[in-house]
Amino acid sequence: MSFPATRMRRMRRTQALRDLVRETELSPRHLVQPLFVVPGEGVRQPVESMPGVERYSINELVEVAGEVHEAGVPAVILFGIPEHKDEAGTGAYDDEGIVQMAIRALKKEHPDLTVITDVCLCEYTDHGHCGFVRDGEVDNDITIELIAKTAVSHAEAGADVVAPSDMMDGRIGAVRGQLDEEGHADVPIIAYAAKYASAFYGPFRDAAESTPQFGDRRGYQMDPGNALEAVREARLDLEEGADVVMVKPAVTYLDVIRRVKDELGVPVAAYHVSGEYAALKAAALNGWVDERAAVLETLTSIRRAGADVILTYYAKDVAEWLA
Ligand code: PBG
Repeated sequence: MSFPATRMRRMRRTQALRDLVRETELSPRHLVQPLFVVPGEGVRQPVESMPGVERYSINELVEVAGEVHEAGVPAVILFGIPEHKDEAGTGAYDDEGIVQMAIRALKKEHPDLTVITDVCLCEYTDHGHCGFVRDGEVDNDITIELIAKTAVSHAEAGADVVAPSDMMDGRIGAVRGQLDEEGHADVPIIAYAAKYASAFYGPFRDAAESTPQFGDRRGYQMDPGNALEAVREARLDLEEGADVVMVKPAVTYLDVIRRVKDELGVPVAAYHVSGEYAALKAAALNGWVDERAAVLETLTSIRRAGADVILTYYAKDVAEWLA
């Protein structure tokens, strides 16, 4: 049937009619708030390239995480910045490391808040790469042992979910194997499966002090031109035991989110990354876009593309706006 019997505008006439037929829902239950934790006490350090985002010492983190949870966001993902960095990133798998201590403090104060941890070495290595460097290159097989060790130490500290973000081959299998062996068969893995070598991580690297001191990450992160490869990466991670696969960044890879969802039919997460946040925030602070409308539209598009879970620095704001 076509015009005049069909009039698409009929169902757009009122908010109630529009709501009845809306295909995509954005609700706080899908959101994960990233949080940065630093050593010290009473510390709140604004991240210059991410207005509105701060790095917190553990006591402040506990307070802020409580507010995030209170706002309706069910989960946080933690990134740690250690006191000392070294060649092997030992701070990543130290039982008394910054993230391990933060997990214990969070689970003690907010047992119902889901604590996810980013599992990577880049915040802990003095060279800033995501793994162990040998002869100027990140050594895959040594790195995955260290990644698995890090994941186990997070689980021992009480992490609800671990999320390896290093992009080494075989790391999901290594993490799953070690977790199972150490009695953590119930801890799920969100795999950063299709993580692109993106210009949009810049502000994060300021926040995490994890800019590579030589070279770049293109030897392990994905080429932005590839989508079939993303499906292959996600399939491999699932075969190795991933429970959820992530695409990252989000907005420049909406087609990849859709493909992974359609071809694999598994839970998909999307990371709306630091540079995506910074770009929206900068436009908003200049009065060039309506922040709330632009953010809600952006996150809705990520959900529409097929993401179940969205990691975003806007999580708490969005939960408050939607309330
Ligand atoms: C660690 C990691 C990064 C991000 C998440 N985990 C940085 C990177 O790969 O350089 C980026 C998150 C963001 O930009 O918000 N490997």
